[in-house]
Amino acid sequence: MASNQSPVKPWAGRFAGETHAFVEEFTQSVSFDRRLYRQDIQGSIAHVRMLAHCGVLPEDDAGRIVKGLESILSDIEADRFQWRVELEDVHMNIESALAERIGDVGKKLHTARSRNDQVATDLRLYLRDAMDELRALLLTLLQSLCALAEREAETIMPGVTHMQTAQPVTFGHHLLAWCAMLQRDEQRLLDCRRRTNVLPLGAAALAGTGFPIDREYAARLLGFDRVAENSLDAVSDRDFAVEFCGAAALIMMHLSRFAEELVLWSSPQYCFIELDEAWCTGSSIMPQKKNPDVAELLRGKTGRVYGDLMALLTLMKGQPLAYNRDNQEDKEALFDAVDTVRNCLRACCGMLPGLRVQREAMVAAAARGQGTATDLADYLVGRGVPFRDAHAIVGRVVQFAIGAGKDLSELNIEELRRFSGRIESDVFARLTLQGSVAARDHVGGTAPRQVRLAAQRLREYLRQALAQEISE
Ligand code: ARG
Repeated sequence: MASNQSPVKPWAGRFAGETHAFVEEFTQSVSFDRRLYRQDIQGSIAHVRMLAHCGVLPEDDAGRIVKGLESILSDIEADRFQWRVELEDVHMNIESALAERIGDVGKKLHTARSRNDQVATDLRLYLRDAMDELRALLLTLLQSLCALAEREAETIMPGVTHMQTAQPVTFGHHLLAWCAMLQRDEQRLLDCRRRTNVLPLGAAALAGTGFPIDREYAARLLGFDRVAENSLDAVSDRDFAVEFCGAAALIMMHLSRFAEELVLWSSPQYCFIELDEAWCTGSSIMPQKKNPDVAELLRGKTGRVYGDLMALLTLMKGQPLAYNRDNQEDKEALFDAVDTVRNCLRACCGMLPGLRVQREAMVAAAARGQGTATDLADYLVGRGVPFRDAHAIVGRVVQFAIGAGKDLSELNIEELRRFSGRIESDVFARLTLQGSVAARDHVGGTAPRQVRLAAQRLREYLRQALAQEISE
């Protein structure tokens, strides 16, 4: 354990005097980057093993360093580690503690390494694990949405454009639209993972090192797919973090859209769904209220993640090669994006199973607003009327129906034939909501049969994705 005396900074050699207290506080990152301790120790262990493997360090030294690092790890996990602001960041805190514990041999750890390649390595390890976790949450969410979509394959609801009744759709189809968005999000994370999972170690400060190192060996120990090809790039770019925040922003954009629909649908004006009480909150003044606050916060937290993306893009803009201290500012934004997306995905996973679907309200709403007008036009097209003329005829029928206070399907055959002699009584099968959705029976269409097929395909995709994840 560290003594209470102020420790010597690892870089203190060329300085004659003390660092100003303000500067210590201003430049420190340990208050937030200590969260990287596990990756930092993992990276150091791999580095030192590689040095021993290459004969840069005796095996015996490497063994003692690894032991020392492991004891630090268990102290940190048990909350017995004393973090010191004077030691700036997670890296120097751990390195100093190592020398304190195991003596001079601990001072050999930083051979052939710089904090520049060290921090880039830590961050990539951290983000790789975080993305795996977020992907697993996305897959879980997709599984429950997919199951719900299959259950609601026949449920009819109003499909809307411009928030106006457009055409009836099935609720299962609507849910599968959400799934399509989340599936792309999941793939985006996988894609970003490939570019993140690259080893910076060996780049040292910026130019590489004169020691005979084996970067591939270290990469294998850490599970990286390959080594970074250019040392200047390896220590300085954070595009992987920007890319992740872009993917995270898109996840949040999608979640906020679902959240908005949940808010609308659970309102007394819609009553399409009911949210579980455990996932709602009340009002301190209005006793009747049951508010969808979780959904609203999903919507609200989206802005944070957009902000994180903007922060990182702006951070990187105009930075000359190679490493600059600006890069220390990458962490809080990245951590915030990871934490926010993780929490929001957990919220969705938790809220969804308790969602009750009010099928009658959905179908009743679909029956308002002349949602089968396109079907009537399509029917006329089938009878040889050019679509543009059919559109005009149905426009007049709709005008009449609205005046009569009826839905198209409630008009009788005489009323309909006033607008076109081509209309026969077989038209009514097309004007029902069920007839309308069943007709859209092609890949991507809303017909219940297609919803079941699409859900099946998704289920198979998820099965494979989850199996892959377990084998990784
Ligand atoms: N705390 C620093 C960071 O987060 C570590 C690297 C510092 N390197 C340096 N040469 N000052 O980026």
